Amino acid sequence: MPTFATVLQNLRRAARLSQEELAERARLSVETISALERGARRAPYRTTVQLLADGLALPASARQLLASAAASAARRGARRAHLDEPAAALPAAPPDDVASPPAGAFGRQTENLPQQRTSFIGREDVLVDVGALVRSQRLVTLVGPGGAGKTRTSLQIATEMLEAFADGVWFIELAELTNGDDVPAAVAHVLGIELSPAGALDTLVRSLRPKHALLIFDNCEHVVASAATVVAALLSGCPGVRVLATTRQTLGVAGESTYPLPALPFPVGVDALSTAEASSFAAVALFADRAAAADFGFALAEENALTIAEICRRLDGNPLAIELAAACMKFLSPQQLAERLDQRFLVLTRGNRDVSARHQTLRALIDWSYDLLDERERGLLRRLGVFAGSFTVQSAIAVGSSAQLAASDVLDVLASLIEKSLVLAESGNGERRYRLLESTRAYAEEKLAASGERDAVFSRHRRHLRDLFAGARQGVSRIAGRTEVRRLLTTESENVRSALNRPVLDDDVEVNRELLAALGAAWTRQPGIRARVWATIGRRKSRRPRVR
Ligand SMILES: Nc1ncnc2c1ncn2[C@@H]1O[C@H](COP(=O)(O)OP(=O)(O)OP(=O)(O)O)[C@@H](O)[C@H]1O
Ligand SMILES: [Mg+2]
Repeated sequence: MPTFATVLQNLRRAARLSQEELAERARLSVETISALERGARRAPYRTTVQLLADGLALPASARQLLASAAASAARRGARRAHLDEPAAALPAAPPDDVASPPAGAFGRQTENLPQQRTSFIGREDVLVDVGALVRSQRLVTLVGPGGAGKTRTSLQIATEMLEAFADGVWFIELAELTNGDDVPAAVAHVLGIELSPAGALDTLVRSLRPKHALLIFDNCEHVVASAATVVAALLSGCPGVRVLATTRQTLGVAGESTYPLPALPFPVGVDALSTAEASSFAAVALFADRAAAADFGFALAEENALTIAEICRRLDGNPLAIELAAACMKFLSPQQLAERLDQRFLVLTRGNRDVSARHQTLRALIDWSYDLLDERERGLLRRLGVFAGSFTVQSAIAVGSSAQLAASDVLDVLASLIEKSLVLAESGNGERRYRLLESTRAYAEEKLAASGERDAVFSRHRRHLRDLFAGARQGVSRIAGRTEVRRLLTTESENVRSALNRPVLDDDVEVNRELLAALGAAWTRQPGIRARVWATIGRRKSRRPRVR
C-alpha cells in the first residue's frame, strides 16, 4: 500500500492543483497539506480526509483509495504509537464484502477474497470447466448478463485455487470505477504497488513480472477498453500472471478464452414436481434458500414447487432476479408473486441494502447495461423488445432499422448487443436465431413505450409477419407454399400469437386481414391454439382479438 503522503500527492497532481489551490478548495491550511505530503503528519483526521477528497473532487474509487491509505497509515502509526489522533477516529475499515488492501506488495497476505455470507448453490459443472480453463489458459473471461452470477462464481473458483498460485489470488473490484484511466491504480491499490503517475502501466507490469498470481478483474464492462489494455499488458509482460475476468462484455484481446455463464437450471415442461426433484434444480434451490432466510415460515413443498419452478423460468434462471423474487416471500405467496411477474420491475425492488445499487432492483440491474449503450444500440434493443420468442437477422432488420439506424447497419449493432450480453444468439445448425431474456424483453418493451415509438414498431412487426407468411405462400406450388407456411409457424408462432393479441391500429386493419389470410388454416391447427382470428377482421383499434 503506498503511503498516505504519496497517494495524496499523486491525486493532487492528477487534479493539476498546487498545494495552495487544494488548501483553498479543501478549506485546510497549506501547512497541513504540506505536512501530510511530506509524511510529517502521517495519520490525518477522518474529517481531514473527507475535506481533501471533496477538495480534489474525487470519484468513489479514488476516495476509497485515499481513505484506505489513511486507515493503513493509522494502523502503522498505532503500532509505532506515533499517532496524531486515536485510530478509532480514523476511517472505518471497509465492510467485509469489499476487497481490503494487503499489508504490502505481495507481503505475507496471499489473497483478499471477500467473505461470502450466503451459500453458493449448484454450478458443479461450471466450476470444473472454468477451473480447468484457468489452469490451462492465461485469460479466462466469464461473460453473461447482469446478475447471472459471474462475480460469485469467479470467487468460488478463486477460493478453490488459493494453493495453486505462489503469490496469491487477488480480487480487483472495478464496478465502482467511474473512469477507465483508474484501472491500473485499482490493480496497484489491491496489490500494494506504488505507481508513479507517469508510466503507471509500465510500473505495474514491472512489479508483476516475477510473480505467479491469479488476478480477478471483476465487472469490466463499463471500463472494458481500459481493462483490456491493462490485461493485455500483463499477459504480455508477466508470464506467471493469469487473469480471470468477469464482465457483461468480452474484453476482446488475443488469447481470451470466453466462458458464457449459463442460467441456473430450472425445471421445464413438467406438470408435477416432488420437493426433492424441485430442489435438485439449482434455480429452485436458490429461491428456496433465500426465501427461507427472508421468511422463517417459508418451505419448499409439493404444493408450491411448480409455481416456484415457473417463477424461476420466467426469471430466466437468473440468480439475482431469483434472489429479488425470494425476498418477496416476506409479503407475498409464490402464487401471488407469479401473478405479478408481468409487473416484474415494480415487484422485484427489494434487494439487500448492503449490495451495490445496481443489484437492489431488477430495473437497476438492466439499467446498468442500458446506460452503457450508444443511441443506436439503445434504439435497436428497444425495438427488438417487440419480438416474443426468437427472431432472425432479417426480422431484426425489418423491424429494427430506423431513421437513425440504416438496415445495412443493423447486423453490426445486433452483434454489439450480443457481445454486451443483451441479446442471445441461439446455436443451431441452420440459420442462427436471436432472443432476448424475458426480463430484458420486458425492459426493452417498457423503454419502447416510453420512447413513443411503440405503435409504429408494433405495426412494423405485424407488416413484417404479413410479408414473411405471404412470401412463404408464393412457393412453386400450393402444396409447397403450405408446407413453407407450416415450417415458418414452427419458429414464428410466438411472434404471430403476440402480434394477433395486440390491438389492431386503424391503419393496420388491412395488414391484419392479409396476415390472417397468409397464415390460413395452418394457424388454427397450431397445437394449443384455438384462434378466433377471423372474427377480428375489420375490428377497431380498441378491440383485441382473442387468441388462446
Ligand atoms: N451459484 C450461486 N449460488 C448462490 N448465489 C448465487 C449464485 N450465483 C449468483 N448468486 C447470487 O446472485 C447475485 C448476483 O450474482 P453476481 O453478483 O455474481 O452476478 P454478476 O453476474 O456478477 O452480476 P453483474 O453483471 O451485475 O456484476 C449475488 O447475490 C450472488 O451471491
Ligand atoms: Mg459482477
